[in-house]
Amino acid sequence: MKSSIGIFDSGYGGLTVLKSIQNLLPNYDCIYLGDNARAPYGARSFEVINQYTLEAVEYLFYQNCPIVILACNTSSAKALRNIQKNILPNKYPSKKVLGVIRPTTEEVGHFTKTGYVGIMGTAGTIVSNSYPIEISKLFPKVQVVQQSCPMWVPLVENNTFLEEGGQYYIKKYIDELLEKEPRIDTVVLACTHYPILKESIEKFLPKEVKLFDQGDLVADKLIEYFKRHSIIDNQISKSGNIEIFTTEESEKFDEHLNLFYNSNYSSKTVQII
Ligand code: DGL
Repeated sequence: MKSSIGIFDSGYGGLTVLKSIQNLLPNYDCIYLGDNARAPYGARSFEVINQYTLEAVEYLFYQNCPIVILACNTSSAKALRNIQKNILPNKYPSKKVLGVIRPTTEEVGHFTKTGYVGIMGTAGTIVSNSYPIEISKLFPKVQVVQQSCPMWVPLVENNTFLEEGGQYYIKKYIDELLEKEPRIDTVVLACTHYPILKESIEKFLPKEVKLFDQGDLVADKLIEYFKRHSIIDNQISKSGNIEIFTTEESEKFDEHLNLFYNSNYSSKTVQII
């Protein structure tokens, strides 16, 4: 029976992670699920994000995914711990769920020279303090400055980021971050939607500030994970098959899919509850 890597995001953003996984592990079958009907997750409560994320993960388990990547920082920040600690051991002991925060924090401290790192994310990710907490464990000398960017996910979801108003909000949050701490030399795009804004972000960010995006990093860490967990690796079918599911209308999803992912795939609408 066919078995795939499950990749979950609240919407389109996780396609940036899917793309990196596909580049580095081209034979691995993947199923992508975007919960576009209920996105954005960013400002939702802890309980709601937990419930939505669990529903998505269970859906991917039923699609025969032995491992699910939460390619959503908001879900990784707010729901991953609960799923790993309380749900998997009791209900799905042979399944794995991984997030995107840990792989990022393991590396980011090596990049900064000034010791000041900026984290840009959704309100949910920033309020959770997951990045400062995790970074301080691994790089206690690094100072973390956070900036919540509540307009950025809607700008991606609605594809309005190149309009004047969109560009205004991209510049605004960068300026606010750098005003808090001008010594920042490394900025983490701590939301999988944000790489889609990368060209615009780079335009407004001083040249000496490095942008750190997660897609390739998560894919690299997944390769390492498979080396250590051959039981999971051996379960994944390796015919290079990609399926893309959305909880929204598939026609709407496909317009974004071609724009952001540059592919000829088409999505399928699914009901996950
Ligand atoms: N891609 C999600 C993240 O990484 C966006 C969250 C949202 O839907 O607001 O945080």
